Amino acid sequence: MNNKKIALVTGGNRGIGYETSLQLAEQGVHVIIGARQLGRAADVAAQLQSQGLHAEALAIDVSDSASIAAAAKEIEARHGRLDILVNNAGILGETVAGASAQTMPQWRQIFDTNVFGLIETTTALLPLLRKSAAGRIVNVSSLLGSNTLHTQPGSPIYEMKVMPAYNVSKSAVNAWTVQLAYELKDTAIKVNAIHPGYVKTEMNQGGGEMEIPDGAKSSVAMALIGGDGPNGSFTHLGETLPW
Ligand SMILES: NC(=O)c1ccc[n+]([C@@H]2O[C@H](COP(=O)([O-])OP(=O)(O)OC[C@H]3O[C@@H](n4cnc5c(N)ncnc54)[C@H](OP(=O)(O)O)[C@@H]3O)[C@@H](O)[C@H]2O)c1
Repeated sequence: MNNKKIALVTGGNRGIGYETSLQLAEQGVHVIIGARQLGRAADVAAQLQSQGLHAEALAIDVSDSASIAAAAKEIEARHGRLDILVNNAGILGETVAGASAQTMPQWRQIFDTNVFGLIETTTALLPLLRKSAAGRIVNVSSLLGSNTLHTQPGSPIYEMKVMPAYNVSKSAVNAWTVQLAYELKDTAIKVNAIHPGYVKTEMNQGGGEMEIPDGAKSSVAMALIGGDGPNGSFTHLGETLPW
């Protein structure tokens, strides 16, 4: 029996997911690095292990039902439970002139990964999270999912409408977080959405404002909340954000 908390980070091979994995491992968590290419997850796991940290690799493509099911089965076989799930994997898609200009294939591709993949990963792993004494689910959302700010002229995102499918996918992640938090409110599991910040990663070709180590802080903090922590919240570095 592994006495350490066991976490799965999807998209753990680079960017915010890599850094989240590293920081959780530094906090004494046994981290399962989830990546759609097993070799990339194995490289990261080996790198963390070389620093004396506890990590292992797992193949998981969140847009592929068979891959999610196989990953859940594998975690069950290896550990019999899961304490922390960080739903970090995500894609941005193409930028377009406006909401009606995003093509249907793009809407479907972005929703398959950012929304349906996140939901399917969560539901597949819920039985293992229920076996944890204190299950934690962190949904990596975005400020761009805030409809309150999107409808507020002068807000920092009011004019950021060139990634409509991405924005709407993150609104859906927020809405799913609310729905699941209600279902789980009387259990030991807490589910919360976070905005990592505008972080310099490959997703925005390094164009962010925050360094990656700071961009992982919201995920890590929410993954490690105690029994008195929130359920069904949307925050950035502990600050509540408008839905
Ligand atoms: N960067 C920001 O400013 C920012 C702001 C708000 C929210 N976020 C969110 O933060 C999360 C991490 O983004 P990031 O900035 O670190 O981006 P990134 O560097 O592009 O990393 C994205 C990660 O997601 C993985 N991924 C994509 N599709 C996947 C799939 N179908 N199955 C499994 N993994 C998949 C990628 O794997 P591969 O290496 O195989 O492609 C990669 O590991 C995303 O959910 C993003 O929406 C980022």
